[in-house]
Amino acid sequence: MSINLAKRIEEIEDLPSMPHTLQKILDNLDGVASSAQTLELLIRDDPVLSANILRIANSPFYGVSGEVSSLSRAVVIMGFDEIKNLVIGLSLTGTFSGELGVDLFTAKQLWLHSIGVARGCQAMAAFVPELDPEELFTAGLMHDIGKFLLCLYFNDEYKAVVNVHKDKGVSMLEAEEECGITHAEAGAFLAQKWAMSDMLVNVVRYHHNPVSAGPYGQAAAIVFLSDQICHKINLGGDMGCEVEKIRVPKNIGISPENIKKVAQELRDNREAIEAGWGSAMG
Ligand SMILES: [Fe+2]
Ligand SMILES: [Fe+2]
Repeated sequence: MSINLAKRIEEIEDLPSMPHTLQKILDNLDGVASSAQTLELLIRDDPVLSANILRIANSPFYGVSGEVSSLSRAVVIMGFDEIKNLVIGLSLTGTFSGELGVDLFTAKQLWLHSIGVARGCQAMAAFVPELDPEELFTAGLMHDIGKFLLCLYFNDEYKAVVNVHKDKGVSMLEAEEECGITHAEAGAFLAQKWAMSDMLVNVVRYHHNPVSAGPYGQAAAIVFLSDQICHKINLGGDMGCEVEKIRVPKNIGISPENIKKVAQELRDNREAIEAGWGSAMG
């Protein structure tokens, strides 16, 4: 990121703070004993969140449409980790939900893409004993958070990036680089500002360049791959990031069969994911 841009991000006065609910979850939920109670309290405190959780729980994705009438029932049917992911997802999507002021994608599309990527990351991480699928879910959700930041706070510059993408027929990634303003850097900045783990900060920073992610290379590789798969199957829309051929990073450590399984699962669930989360996002 150019020094100038870094300085200007630093100077943004109304930079959103980490959603309260997300903060609480990341602070508290590592301790197993307190988790279920903490989560339930958090949800009960927030009627909009509760309603949205029930809405998603009843969406076709979970195959129990109309049956989940209460939070405790949702926990029984979907499991604790799944509810936790929903809470993290809903608290993040609520932070950036307005107009983004670019004509290439909407906040809703960008979130649906991010949720798809999160799902793929979670599923892939289940094949890697050293990784925590829930943490990878959060990494997937966060990976493009810099795009929100750039659209909202550097709108003219980001519009210029979109124009370069359109006029020159280059990918959005190349257009960003040409303009010296990248969503990966901006996103890492926000993750750092929110005091997220080193893993999350670095995965956001290197999700388009996983070989540079050092000790977080495998996690970054998973986000890199899940991102491509979601663009390829058009989950959330392609948003200027067309993928011709999927590139599987060498360090991914997951067999091709299992990668195919995850890709197929995403493909099969694309509409259900879009419908469920789409309804919660209005
Ligand atoms: Fe990205
Ligand atoms: Fe992405």
